Amino acid sequence: MGFNAMTIKNCPFTPEDINAIKNNLLNNIATPSHALTKVTTGATIEAMPGAVIASPSLPGNTFSQDYFFYWVRDGAIVINEIAVLYKTATDPQEKNKFKEILLCYLNFVKKVQSQPELNSIDILGEPKFNVDGTLWTGVWSRPQNDGAAYQALTLTHIANIFLQEGNKQFVIDNIYNPQSFASILKANLEYTAANWQANTIGPWEELFGLHFSVQIVQRRALLEGAALATQLGDTGATSYYQTQAQHIGNALNMHWNDSLGYFSETLAAQDQRGGGINTSVLIALLYGQIKQANDDFALTSEEVISTAYYARYAFEGLYQINTRNKALGIGGSLVGRYCSDVYDGNHSIYGNSWFLCTNMLAAFYYGLAQQLLEGNSISVSFLVKQFLQQVAPAIDIAIGDKLSKASPCFKALIETLVTQGDDILQVIKACSVTYKDGSALHMSEQIDRASGKQISAQDLSWSYATLLTAVRLRAETVKLLAAA
Ligand code: NOJ
Ligand code: NOJ
Repeated sequence: MGFNAMTIKNCPFTPEDINAIKNNLLNNIATPSHALTKVTTGATIEAMPGAVIASPSLPGNTFSQDYFFYWVRDGAIVINEIAVLYKTATDPQEKNKFKEILLCYLNFVKKVQSQPELNSIDILGEPKFNVDGTLWTGVWSRPQNDGAAYQALTLTHIANIFLQEGNKQFVIDNIYNPQSFASILKANLEYTAANWQANTIGPWEELFGLHFSVQIVQRRALLEGAALATQLGDTGATSYYQTQAQHIGNALNMHWNDSLGYFSETLAAQDQRGGGINTSVLIALLYGQIKQANDDFALTSEEVISTAYYARYAFEGLYQINTRNKALGIGGSLVGRYCSDVYDGNHSIYGNSWFLCTNMLAAFYYGLAQQLLEGNSISVSFLVKQFLQQVAPAIDIAIGDKLSKASPCFKALIETLVTQGDDILQVIKACSVTYKDGSALHMSEQIDRASGKQISAQDLSWSYATLLTAVRLRAETVKLLAAA
């Protein structure tokens, strides 16, 4: 058993690069000093501070969609990264700037949630709002229940930061009031606890059903919510949220497709658009991670590892950009949402690789390396071996081997995983563009699977947020590795 160790290089994104990424993201968040105005032929809408726009792109010659809206899911994922930036900022001015965004977001969410239902569904199941915070009443796929779960996670994150700073009363007044079902976080948790068994539209706004990617985030939201409820003395809620989370865990296991070797996204629709292997599962495994050794959905579990194998494999030969890169000796693979996807932001001719999906594949490698370093070992089954050969083709390993910290190729595996993530980020960086004004590292939603050119919505907030997630996980992993 063994293979050659490799040396980890620097992160493909330098600190200056990360700054540029942050600025590109901040451009999409309205604050009192950064106005965002949506101008279309029909109307002009001023964004309310705290609104995160999905992208500034409006319908045009090569793009038929309007992304100048607030999506609950996209917004929560973005603000979660802003909360990390706030927590880790050392420059007081920067810290203030991030704090202002968090406070504006709390206000914005309050406005969004306190509106009457207009589309015959609970306001908490609504996926999309105008940038002034009013409900979008046009035709759309509803409900999208991952939104409330992502939002609950982000609000819990913010609440925990403020509690650590000693601002309990602020948290009770503005985020989670045990006495009020209307307080923004409690509302999302109650909605999630009561509705996780209901069919919903998934994160790609297409399939209706029970989705792995929705439920695993709901589970984590309830577990984190339960812990916060305990801190705030809401013990009835604690046990309710915990019990529901446990049930969700059982429901999630039903998504394991033993004959195919992966967690299918949508129960009862595995043969439909994205109901089977889907990178939405990988993304949610990361954002829905509960960091408990031996959790069924730990990144180190055989089922999760095998799902990652198939998610990457599905796109490797499908996209010309990947086969061309491979011929040039470029390692990182680009991935899209699912193989039969046709959505391209315009005429839906063929689906493409997505920045955010690819960033999260890199995040998976970093996250897996991190969990391994934190003490989990993996036993080499057939499926695990298949994964290991994908990331380290030269690996010499046998079914039945056990990879524990003491095993000789453990360190080499960690280094390989980090390098695999880096190879991906290298390709992502190569796909970014510099604008005429000199601002760098702009990322759209999609990368054309044939030409490798950016297409669909420009400057997609979620593309930037997932990149920040990936480099953050990388930094944590490299630190752990240095200490090991
Ligand atoms: C179909 C796409 O697949 C979905 O992701 C998108 O949000 C909607 N069209 C609207 O643009
Ligand atoms: C389409 C994506 O499929 C969906 O996940 C996202 O919320 C919207 N675009 C807005 O970015």
